Amino acid sequence: MVDRGPAKKAADGTTARLRQRFPTIDDLRRRARRRVPRFGFDFVDGGATEEYCIERNTSAFQAIELLPRYCIDGKVTTDTELFGRKYAAPIGVAPMGSAGLMWPGAEKMFAAEAQRQRIPYVLATPGNASIEEIAAIAPDVFWFQLYRFPYNDHAITYDLVRRADEAGAHVLVPTVDSAGKSKRPRDIRNGCRVPFPINPWTTYQVLTSPAWTMQLLRNGMPITANLVPYAPKASQNATAEVMQTRSGGSHTWEELARLRDRWKRPFVVKGILHPEDAERAVALGADGIWVSNHGGRHFDGAPASVDVLPAIVSAVGSRATVVIDSGIRSGLDVVRALALGAKFCFTGRCFAYGLGALGSAGAPHVADLFLDEIKTELLHAGARSVAEAAQIKARHPNAWRFDNY
Ligand SMILES: Cc1cc2nc3c(=O)[nH]c(=O)nc-3n(C[C@H](O)[C@H](O)[C@H](O)COP(=O)(O)O)c2cc1C
Repeated sequence: MVDRGPAKKAADGTTARLRQRFPTIDDLRRRARRRVPRFGFDFVDGGATEEYCIERNTSAFQAIELLPRYCIDGKVTTDTELFGRKYAAPIGVAPMGSAGLMWPGAEKMFAAEAQRQRIPYVLATPGNASIEEIAAIAPDVFWFQLYRFPYNDHAITYDLVRRADEAGAHVLVPTVDSAGKSKRPRDIRNGCRVPFPINPWTTYQVLTSPAWTMQLLRNGMPITANLVPYAPKASQNATAEVMQTRSGGSHTWEELARLRDRWKRPFVVKGILHPEDAERAVALGADGIWVSNHGGRHFDGAPASVDVLPAIVSAVGSRATVVIDSGIRSGLDVVRALALGAKFCFTGRCFAYGLGALGSAGAPHVADLFLDEIKTELLHAGARSVAEAAQIKARHPNAWRFDNY
């Protein structure tokens, strides 16, 4: 038998060292900002217009108080089931297009860590790795996020769905909150666009970020890998042009119904903020509603997703599984969302900050932080499981109220 002692000791030592140096997501964010070229960090960190929605997302979580219960005995477990699969904790990696700008090769690192930890990883349509590559790395935890390609009667949309099905993606996640182009001032100022401008300013940023540049050299220029079959060649410009010219707009209700008919496994509509939209999605057969404002990247006027969560749970929570993202930065935020009726949480930027800060050690450290914190905060709130978290009493001063929900 192999002696795993020294290897395990080394891994435990690394975990302890990282927990001490980077105990919060904000520590990772600060380090990522120093190590990643400004255009890459800002692409991930930034948001629409004045970025009030990003701020609203995090402050909305901070405003939620949980009333703890004491004198309870028993072991706490974070294990949970979602759409018939068992996961290690109610946290997953949200889809992020072009995450390679934060750290080249990001998608494969997210997928490998998600498979190792048994948490979901959602590959974005405009990700820098293909459906087939991710399915090979994370066969048990791989979901696919779908954008809309109205061109040629949705030929690309349906082909992506076919590929996701053949590759065994467990859940299909059509995103509806990308109604049009979004205005992100940091990207405009940084000239972050395709084709990527090579000028003295961008060259300076790359040259002064040596760890990032080494990673770029190892991985090659990021491309929109899922779109290679529909582009004249497998280059960054050609695949990005397919994205720019062939995709766009929100899937309509009629299109969602057609997608629902084709996809036989769980179907979760992402980007819902209004309870009536949640009702419509469930009426056409959605198994899940993903409450999200895209992390404040599209519409700066949107409410914090957690502030509309209770109304959506009240509208559809008995018929569909409600999950949430946007602004989750800690295990405590996850427990807050569970207390308000969410069944599962996702975060995009936390995992991206981890990679920017620590490279290959980043995704494992972020997963470790969340798993550890969720357990600790459940214990403090007096819940021994994800199911019991739904019983925690919460005070939620900024919750949206609707007449019917
Ligand atoms: C860099 C970046 C790219 C994203 N790309 C996509 C995408 O392609 N499709 C999608 O549905 N959501 C996308 N999102 C939104 C995330 O899935 C998720 O809703 C958001 O990151 C949650 O907010 P948080 O970053 O505060 O956790 C992206 C987010 C980021 C940060």
